[in-house]
Formats: sequence, structure tokens, C-alpha cells
Amino acid sequence: MPASLLGFDIRTSSMADKIPLDADTIVLDVDLGNGENIAKLAAFRKAAPARCKQIFAITKGNLQEELQATTLGARKTIHRPVGDAGLAKIIEDIRETAGILTPTASKAVNGAAKTLENTFARFTTNKPVDLGEVAATGEEIAKTISNIGVNEWLSTVRAYHHTTFQHILIVTGLACAFATNMGMRKADIEKLTTAGLLHDIGKVDIPASILDKPGKLTAEEFDVIRTHPGAGYKFLARQDGIAEDVLDAILHHHEFLNGSGYPDGLAGDQIRDLTRILTICDIMGALLERRTYKEPFTVAESLAILLQMANDGKLEMVLVHALGRTLEKNVNSIQQTPDESLIALAPLYQSPVEAR
Ligand SMILES: [Fe+2]
Ligand SMILES: [Fe+2]
Repeated sequence: MPASLLGFDIRTSSMADKIPLDADTIVLDVDLGNGENIAKLAAFRKAAPARCKQIFAITKGNLQEELQATTLGARKTIHRPVGDAGLAKIIEDIRETAGILTPTASKAVNGAAKTLENTFARFTTNKPVDLGEVAATGEEIAKTISNIGVNEWLSTVRAYHHTTFQHILIVTGLACAFATNMGMRKADIEKLTTAGLLHDIGKVDIPASILDKPGKLTAEEFDVIRTHPGAGYKFLARQDGIAEDVLDAILHHHEFLNGSGYPDGLAGDQIRDLTRILTICDIMGALLERRTYKEPFTVAESLAILLQMANDGKLEMVLVHALGRTLEKNVNSIQQTPDESLIALAPLYQSPVEAR
């Protein structure tokens, strides 16, 4: 499916199915000459999220159908049969109107995804990762962010379909923007970017049924999740050329200052600066992402949750503020439609977000 290359997830449903909450657009290909269909269609469309665009497929030259589609609220009509080319066209339209995936950004995202694919495959086959490729990708991400801004980077990456890669690209982008904004040395920015790209490599071995499980994890499942920093560290520590603090950030990106994190329950000074920064960017990323067990939070909501965690003694307040400042300038332009019911549910999402 060419559309997957453009970073969109496409599903085919019947009218009996529920429309996913995150659907941007529905393409309806239904015989409008059939009264029974119209009634079913009305019920189906009613369940669509308000911002979801509706495009009707009609038979070319059938004016009656064209009129009916317009009456039913079609934003646009396309001609049957709806094939790959038609869908690709629609997706291009959506990208353009949404202002996402500018050519530079999409090129950088696709390049980075390719690197992640290669790098994660090395973990599976137990071969050393190509550090040159990882570093070049990190540099490309840094360059792209300095051109288009961290916000545009986040919007672009959020449209990317592979959830673990999306997470890594978001965390790396945040870490890179944070470090640059803080005026960190070039060598440290590079370290943080590398750590961002590699931090969840140990997730390769965790079954998707656990990683993407909707809802709360059992204690046993959480034990499996807790193995990923150690697995990643063990794999990477065997090869030369990865700085010690990068390895430390990978092993300890789920530790909290008050000792309540994993895998080692480190506390306070035992957690290095680079690791603390990666941890905050990691949680911020998880909050901003859509996952099978949670809707995305806005930047403002995510910052509120991070501040709460800093108040609880888990994260360093100064660093949370610094991340806030990094994103502040761009808060308004982040495309989000916060839903009040989600905000009310926010506290429920906290623990799974911290955990995974
Ligand atoms: Fe992780
Ligand atoms: Fe992560």
C-alpha cells in the first residue's frame, strides 16, 4: 500500500464497524441508491469524530448520486473504483491542508525510520549497530529541527505509523531541541541524540501483545516491560564506541529521583544529568503520543503531568521547566483538539505512561 509510505494508517471497515476515534478522514463507498444503506450510513456517520472529514465515492457522471452525496454532507466526492492511486491522492490532500510532512521533514523522518529499522534488526540478529549511521541520522534530525522547529518535527513524526519508531523520533527530537535550547555543548547534544535513538532498542524482544496492550498491565506483564532498558544496555555495551554516559542513559531512562523507578531503583545523585534529561523527554514523548491505551495529551496537559511528577520528587523541576521553555514558544501551533473527557481521565493514564 503506497499510503503507508506517507505515514498514514489506513483501515477498511464495513458500516457495522466502529469508526476509530483517531480517524482523520473517512472515504465512504456505498450504494446511495439503496434506502436501507442510507439509513445505516446515517448511523455510521453520526458516530464519526466531529473533525473527521467525509469523502464520498460516486459513479462518474451520476448526477443523482453526486447530489445525494452533497446533501448528506460530503466534503468532497471522488470517482469509483477507489484504488491505491485514489487513496494516495486523498492522503496528499490531507497532508497539504494539515500543513504536515513538508518535504524536508518527511525526508528526515523516512531516513531516520530506515536507520531505526536497520539498527533494530542488528539487535535481533545480535550484530553490532552501525554507529556511523546512527550519528549521521542524529545530525540530520538536529539539522531538520533547527530548520523547521521542534513543533513541526513533532507534528510530522506524529503522523508516522510505526508506534515504537514514532516514539523514538519524538523523544530524540525533544532531547535534541532541549539540549540545543539549553545551550549544551555540541558533543553533549550528539550524545543525547544518540541515546534518544537507541534508548528503547531493548523493546524489540517484547511482544506487541504486552507493549501495545490496551489498558493496565498485569504485574507479570510489567516485569517483562522492565527488562527493556537492561536488554538494550547489555546488547550495546558489548560493542566499542558508545560513550559511557550514553549507555547509562539507555540503562537508566526509567529511573526516578525518589528511587521509585526501574531497573535499579537509583535515587538522587546516582542518576546522571544526561539520563535525567532523557527520562523527561521520554515521558513527554509518551504523553504526546497516541497509544493503544491512551489518547495523546496536549503540550500543556503533558507539562502539567511532568510538573506533578517533579512535585512528587520523581523528576528534576529545573529540567521540566527547561523543557517547558523549549516548547512554550510553539505551544499554540501544535495541532490538537483537547477533549474534556480525556482531560478528566488524565490521572488514570499516568502510571501506564510512566511504565512503558
Ligand atoms: Fe523505555
Ligand atoms: Fe522510551
